[in-house]
Amino acid sequence: MTKVAIIGTGPCGLSMLRAFQQGEEKGENIPEIVCFEKQKDWGGLWNYSWRTGSDEYGDPVPNSMYRYLWSNGPKECLEFADYSFDEHFGQPIPSFPPREVLYDYILGRAKKADVKKYIRFNTAVTNVVYNDNQFEITSLNKEKNINSKEKFDYLVVATGHFSVPYIPEYKGMNSFPGRILHGHDFRDAEEFRDKNVVVLGSSYSAEDIALQCYKYGANSVTIGYRNNAMGFKWPHGMKEVHYLDKLEGNTATFKDGHTQNIDALILCSGYLHYFPFLDESLKLKTGNRLYPPNLYKGVVWQDNHKLFYLGMQDQFHTFNMFDCQAWFARDIIMDKIKMPNDSEITKDINEWVEKEQKLEDPIQMIDFQTEYTKDLYSASNYPKIDFELIRKHFKDWEHHKEEDIMTYRNKSFSSPVTGTVAPLHHTPWAEAMDDSMETFLKAK
Ligand SMILES: Cc1cc2nc3c(=O)[nH]c(=O)nc-3n(C[C@H](O)[C@H](O)[C@H](O)COP(=O)(O)OP(=O)(O)OC[C@H]3O[C@@H](n4cnc5c(N)ncnc54)[C@H](O)[C@@H]3O)c2cc1C
Ligand SMILES: NC(=O)c1ccc[n+]([C@@H]2O[C@H](COP(=O)([O-])OP(=O)(O)OC[C@H]3O[C@@H](n4cnc5c(N)ncnc54)[C@H](OP(=O)(O)O)[C@@H]3O)[C@@H](O)[C@H]2O)c1
Repeated sequence: MTKVAIIGTGPCGLSMLRAFQQGEEKGENIPEIVCFEKQKDWGGLWNYSWRTGSDEYGDPVPNSMYRYLWSNGPKECLEFADYSFDEHFGQPIPSFPPREVLYDYILGRAKKADVKKYIRFNTAVTNVVYNDNQFEITSLNKEKNINSKEKFDYLVVATGHFSVPYIPEYKGMNSFPGRILHGHDFRDAEEFRDKNVVVLGSSYSAEDIALQCYKYGANSVTIGYRNNAMGFKWPHGMKEVHYLDKLEGNTATFKDGHTQNIDALILCSGYLHYFPFLDESLKLKTGNRLYPPNLYKGVVWQDNHKLFYLGMQDQFHTFNMFDCQAWFARDIIMDKIKMPNDSEITKDINEWVEKEQKLEDPIQMIDFQTEYTKDLYSASNYPKIDFELIRKHFKDWEHHKEEDIMTYRNKSFSSPVTGTVAPLHHTPWAEAMDDSMETFLKAK
């Protein structure tokens, strides 16, 4: 029997499991599946942990999420076509839920599909080589400290790419008397109450961690961008300046000559695509971009069509794009989609990469990733969902952010699956200090 290995049970790994289970539900003979998860529980980044550094077995903690994290895009844009928010919660809920609510939603579908039986928890994949048309996978059962070797016909890598931080060095760091951390290790904005905080970066982590610190009472928040400023209308107490030049004692000097007295430096300088367990010939090498090269349809490894990567793109679209990728991978594995010849594959990849290289602004990027997702969607039987509405929602969301970065999470969107219009949340995001699911779901 064909054997498939899946690595990771974040949203991508769970999409892959659900794709196979949906096939089985429809009466198809699915392959034998083993899913490896190095943590003791599922949900990937959405499975929050207070831990930073190592887990109890000495393995690096992959989690990058923090307390008080709310969805930074409308939930309607990531809704599963086969499992709506209405179905899960039994009532319409607002458009920007906190982490615990999205975690509950992700797990709701996985539980309904009964896919836990495929997962080996606390089991890290430590080595993968490809020999004689098979993947030889070495894994470590961390609890029992036992290494195992097994062979598989197909491999799906769903290990995420926002877990291993990229940490740059700046002059004066070694003698800085305050706290230096990467966003990966940021857990609770309360730690920075009354502090003067500098956040480096100009993407989503910089934006959100800076706002969190402000919201939970930092004395001042200074964002240092490297290339382009985010340019939002920051509230009083926050500002954006150009790039850190050096630290001298508690003083940060920026490239534009601006100086700031600081207590903490938070590096929101992005993450590395890091696959130390994969043989060089199988390893995706890319930065965080919308179309990583060498992946046919953003999914199939160009040099070995039995290897699949899910969710390796920079992400506007998330859960339903991961689903479209998983359904596509499933249909290749189950021989329902035929891979084209090598020159067509190269041509297809090159066309997408060329288009990606011409993108100039977030609106064009949204269009690009919507087109990419629709392209995949049309190739499989992923259930009905309105990607044109999702495209429109993303563009409205971008405009809302430009209008007011403090209020964009108070807006309401309609579901691309059920058409339900989300109710407004009982408390504006800037005043909502309690992020528990219980409080979020209360009428007031
Ligand atoms: C701080 C932060 C906030 C975010 N907020 C949002 C948001 O609001 N909305 C949104 O849509 N997206 C958000 N994202 C994007 C996020 O990437 C996706 O939502 C999603 O978690 C990606 O799923 P994934 O399965 O690819 O990866 P992950 O969620 O990272 O899951 C990967 C899994 O693989 C496991 N794994 C890794 N290596 C191994 C190994 N060697 N062996 C076995 N198991 C392994 C990990 O333990 C983990 O469970 C956020 C990302 C970050 C970093
Ligand atoms: N729900 C939420 O609210 C939330 C919160 C945080 C993160 N997220 C998600 O997390 C994911 C990762 O986002 P991210 O912002 O961590 O990574 P990212 O989008 O890859 O951005 C990396 C940032 O690091 C900057 N950078 C790189 N090297 C640097 C250096 N040497 N000095 C200063 N800056 C440097 C880059 O600047 P340049 O542009 O100049 O290269 C860029 O702004 C995204 O999917 C995002 O949606 C969501």
